[in-house]
Amino acid sequence: MVCKSRQGLLSRRDFLIQAAAWTAVPFLPRNTSAQSVYPTRPIPATGEQLPVVGLGSTKAVSRLEKAGTAELKLLLRTLLDGGGTVVDTWSRSALLDQLTGEALRAEGMVQDLFLATKLDAVGAKAGRAMLERTQQLLGKKPDLIQVISLRDLDTQWLNLREWKDADKTRYIGATVSSDSQHDAMMNFMRRERPDFIQVNYSVIETRAESGVLPLAADLSIAVLINRPFTNGSYFSRVKDVTLPNWTAEFDCHSWAQFSLKYILAHPAITCVLTETTNPKHLIENLGTAYGRFPDAKTKLRMREVVQFT
Ligand SMILES: NC(=O)c1ccc[n+]([C@@H]2O[C@H](COP(=O)([O-])OP(=O)(O)OC[C@H]3O[C@@H](n4cnc5c(N)ncnc54)[C@H](OP(=O)(O)O)[C@@H]3O)[C@@H](O)[C@H]2O)c1
Repeated sequence: MVCKSRQGLLSRRDFLIQAAAWTAVPFLPRNTSAQSVYPTRPIPATGEQLPVVGLGSTKAVSRLEKAGTAELKLLLRTLLDGGGTVVDTWSRSALLDQLTGEALRAEGMVQDLFLATKLDAVGAKAGRAMLERTQQLLGKKPDLIQVISLRDLDTQWLNLREWKDADKTRYIGATVSSDSQHDAMMNFMRRERPDFIQVNYSVIETRAESGVLPLAADLSIAVLINRPFTNGSYFSRVKDVTLPNWTAEFDCHSWAQFSLKYILAHPAITCVLTETTNPKHLIENLGTAYGRFPDAKTKLRMREVVQFT
């Protein structure tokens, strides 16, 4: 299969050959990003295309003090060279912000990334202060700012509206990461019609299928997915189980791809964020975008496999 993106053409076979070569070397060749292509989906508000797999940076950022910036830089380079651009992050302590900013700006990578950040504050003044800090952290206008976990939503949404009106960000939205927040998220979506939402969804956490995802499609809202591996607990669940042979029918080659194929088969989804500190895992996750996806009947079968483990 050959996939088209804003950058050109790359077959799934070419990607796998390239990925195999990448994992054999400690740093990735700079010029591969110019040649790479990647499956994308449109942001409904503008039609801008986004690569369908992105990087959740929480774990890598939390390790910056101990690990230094080399690990995060390599992950960002791997993402770009693999055809991805989307990174989800947010402003934390002064030291973590300084180190995150250093990694993002290395080799000018920040200019090629689609940066999604989060607003995690209570009170209008605290929210504005955090937005200023975020601006400094990234060193460029964030592409997307989200109210984290609907926290202090009414106040922070006004802050985000002002920020967008002042052209200090391109898109605004909000996140949830637990099924218990889906009803509140749907109320927000109906009321405010955000550009983006971020929600938990996977082969284990399927609730968004019956509420948030169809509503996002109806309202033309872009969707980022979090917790594709339920923050890693999914792998403990399947660790002693053999991947069924029939998963090859939709070009799935690992348990990580099993959950990601399940997620990306949903047409309302714009991009799934996978959190990792391991470039090989990131390459495996990025590779999920190529090839076929399971149909509704196969998705039911997939759910049965993980429910019985
Ligand atoms: N409220 C919110 O806004 C909110 C809440 C939760 C999450 N999020 C966002 O969503 C992102 C992802 O969700 P999550 O935090 O729940 O993490 P996740 O992506 O569900 O799981 C991360 C775990 O999976 C492992 N992993 C990743 N790829 C793998 C692979 N191919 N093979 C084996 N193991 C693999 C990682 O370990 P390794 O490091 O060893 O690869 C890590 O321990 C976060 O980074 C964040 O950006 C947002």
